[in-house]
Amino acid sequence: MKALVLCGGAGTRLRPITHTSAKQLVPVANKPVLFYGLEAIADAGVRETGIVVGDTEREIRAAVGDGSAFGLDVTYLHQDAPRGLAHAVVIARDFLGDDDFVMYLGDNFIVGGISGVVDDFRRERPDARILLTHVSEPTAFGIAELDADNRVVGLEEKPQEPKSDLALVGVYLFTPGVHEAVRSIEPSRRGELEITDALQWLLDRGFDVRSTTISGYWKDTGNVTDMLEVNRSVLETVAPRVDGSVDEASEIIGRVRIEDGAKVFASRIVGPAVIGAGTVIAHSYIGPFTSIAEDCRIEESEIEYSIVLHRASIVGMRRIEVSLIGHNVEVTPAPRTPSVHRLVLGDHSKVQIPT
Ligand code: TTP
Repeated sequence: MKALVLCGGAGTRLRPITHTSAKQLVPVANKPVLFYGLEAIADAGVRETGIVVGDTEREIRAAVGDGSAFGLDVTYLHQDAPRGLAHAVVIARDFLGDDDFVMYLGDNFIVGGISGVVDDFRRERPDARILLTHVSEPTAFGIAELDADNRVVGLEEKPQEPKSDLALVGVYLFTPGVHEAVRSIEPSRRGELEITDALQWLLDRGFDVRSTTISGYWKDTGNVTDMLEVNRSVLETVAPRVDGSVDEASEIIGRVRIEDGAKVFASRIVGPAVIGAGTVIAHSYIGPFTSIAEDCRIEESEIEYSIVLHRASIVGMRRIEVSLIGHNVEVTPAPRTPSVHRLVLGDHSKVQIPT
């Protein structure tokens, strides 16, 4: 059994972060979301892993290397453009050979891993197995229709009139039969080779497609709201520890991890939160569900329910909430008079300022 991890894609919903970096590497509790997936694959006993990469190939390679840190043996497969999830299977044909494989979307986050479903698949070997979860807005997802025996009978991408509330989770298990399916389908209206169409192709020809409905937590971290929500849920499990330094004028409350070399002065940190290595927090309040990455500077500021990436600096801001702040970003107040906002914002930035 092999793994195929998808880390190409355009990441339009996470712009401007994805103009300069891969969305699969946005940290959740200071660890790239992709790493949780790679760990789940290794835990399921799979070793040979192909990672499909696009424009951000260099960055993904630098983060994952040969995969040995995860107990994996990684091969990189370049996709020239985001032509769809089924297209990623097409370009991986030689790597996959005639092996069964688990396909894992690199920006998806699943609590509880995939060992259980991988074991079920190995035992039963249906032609394909998909993972499903109940969602409250079925029109926003790929939705499966099941018969009375829980067999998959139909699939629809973002249906206007959904036949169920069971959405496809970003993990799929296939036998080599899928290769004929991905070669046979045509691009969809949005111009992509859709994995749902490949699965439908299998269903139409009587192949055995089974499903497992997971009860565990699942999120596609493709947008900021879900990214912050995944960060919140992972922070709830962080083991509190202080490897950095905290002065006597500071107060640390609850589940807080302060990494090596971080310095906290005259500040209040209320967990769950993580403070990255080398970061300085001074005269500030860090509230629950906040991840501050490495080498950041937070001074005279308040921030809560947010993710701050590597080397960002936030000075004199009260208060920041529900925000994703990119690498090397500087956030500072404007001079009081005249009362103006001074902005240097990248393309596709989103800023909300009280007026
Ligand atoms: P999506 O989130 O469906 O697509 P996207 O990355 O293009 O994002 P957006 O909709 O915001 O523009 O992709 C799911 C995962 O699969 C993600 O990790 C990127 C990866 N992917 C590929 O590797 N190749 C592809 O052709 C596509 C469409 C996605």
